[in-house]
Amino acid sequence: MTSEKVEIVKDVYWVGAIDWMLRDFHGLWTPKGGTYNAYLIIDEKITLIDTVAPNFSAELLDRIRTIIDPAKIDYLICQHVEPDHSTAYAAMLEAAPNAKIITSKRGAEYLQKSFPGMEFPIEIVDDGETLSLGKRSLKFVQIPMVHWPETMISYMPEEQLVFSNDAFGMQIATPYRFADQIDDWYEPLRSYYSYIVRFNAAAVLKAFKKIEGVPIKIICPSHGPIWRKNIQEITDIYYRWSSSPEQEQAIVVYSTIWKSTEQMAHAIREGIASVGVAAEIYNLEDEQLSRVQGAAMEAKAVVVGAMTYNIDPYYPTAAFMPYLKHLRPTNKIGAAFGSYGWGGGATKVLTGQLKDFKFEEVLDPLNVQFRPSEEDLKRCYEYGQEIGRKVKAAFS
Ligand SMILES: Cc1cc2nc3c(=O)[nH]c(=O)nc-3n(C[C@H](O)[C@H](O)[C@H](O)COP(=O)(O)O)c2cc1C
Ligand SMILES: [Fe+2]
Ligand SMILES: [Fe+2]
Repeated sequence: MTSEKVEIVKDVYWVGAIDWMLRDFHGLWTPKGGTYNAYLIIDEKITLIDTVAPNFSAELLDRIRTIIDPAKIDYLICQHVEPDHSTAYAAMLEAAPNAKIITSKRGAEYLQKSFPGMEFPIEIVDDGETLSLGKRSLKFVQIPMVHWPETMISYMPEEQLVFSNDAFGMQIATPYRFADQIDDWYEPLRSYYSYIVRFNAAAVLKAFKKIEGVPIKIICPSHGPIWRKNIQEITDIYYRWSSSPEQEQAIVVYSTIWKSTEQMAHAIREGIASVGVAAEIYNLEDEQLSRVQGAAMEAKAVVVGAMTYNIDPYYPTAAFMPYLKHLRPTNKIGAAFGSYGWGGGATKVLTGQLKDFKFEEVLDPLNVQFRPSEEDLKRCYEYGQEIGRKVKAAFS
């Protein structure tokens, strides 16, 4: 039973699925659930843009049925072959036996490889090609590596509306379908971007170049709410995250067993804050790593701490390091700290990693043997001040 029907502009409907219980979207923490958006266009040619994830085909079909008999669908546009959008093509083709799948050359190849044994009635469209639907049309623009090689977006010039697929998406389930109806979108958008898109930031910038000057009034992503107000604001945020996301902020992250490294972490954070830089602190053992990754993306300085555990950084910090690497942190200041008992090792490993990740600057690490003394904590505080001053200098 599906009653919600959402018309975006005349005869263009949201017909996706809401995954209220989603808490983990392939590793991305989604405390408020998520959505898989599909869009139905009613015109001379009836068209569905993208589909939904496994287990949501029935919901998609129910929603389509509130508008039209699915058998009447002519075109199924496949913008991206990842299973959260392509799984329901099988159910759609059953319900719409005359429909053709419209996709890129790579999309066609990936569909065949993703669903071995299935026969798809595919029509390939080129980059820049326009498909007339009757009163309206769709122009397909390939945006390779945002975030898969086959990804394309579809632009409807008559409505200045872009179906942006994963770009401008976020995972959040709400009763509202438009971003201007909710006020807590910044962090979910940032999480989604940092976890899924930031690694391919260069491809996002290329995509921006490709659509330069194209008037856009509405952005319909494949996850989360639709953007119909403040388009400039949201595209500016995306552009900033893709070029240089760093703000005058720092984060201190750590993991500890007996809390010595935690004491160091607090002293370092206070030192950073004392020079007027906003500084957050995260105990990685208690955090969802993708949440910390979002904060790390916007931090100018990332200070990583770990106690030494069998000559290595303790597991939670070790596990966080790839999240840092995938942010392409080349504009950041990095530093490592931690407590050890005898030979140490954690901060040496972490410092080497920060350098390997091509941090702009990496400080010498700060080590304390067992419990920090008052004097050690003062050293930590001063270390934080040094980091804070470097952050300040980068923005002055
Ligand atoms: C399981 C385990 C393995 C450890 N391995 C090492 C080691 O290889 N080298 C070392 O210098 N200290 C080692 N230590 C000592 C800790 O690094 C030391 O106790 C440190 O002060 C703990 O910091 P924390 O209070 O932040 O947990 C180990 C401690 C534990 C519990
Ligand atoms: Fe995707
Ligand atoms: Fe997706």
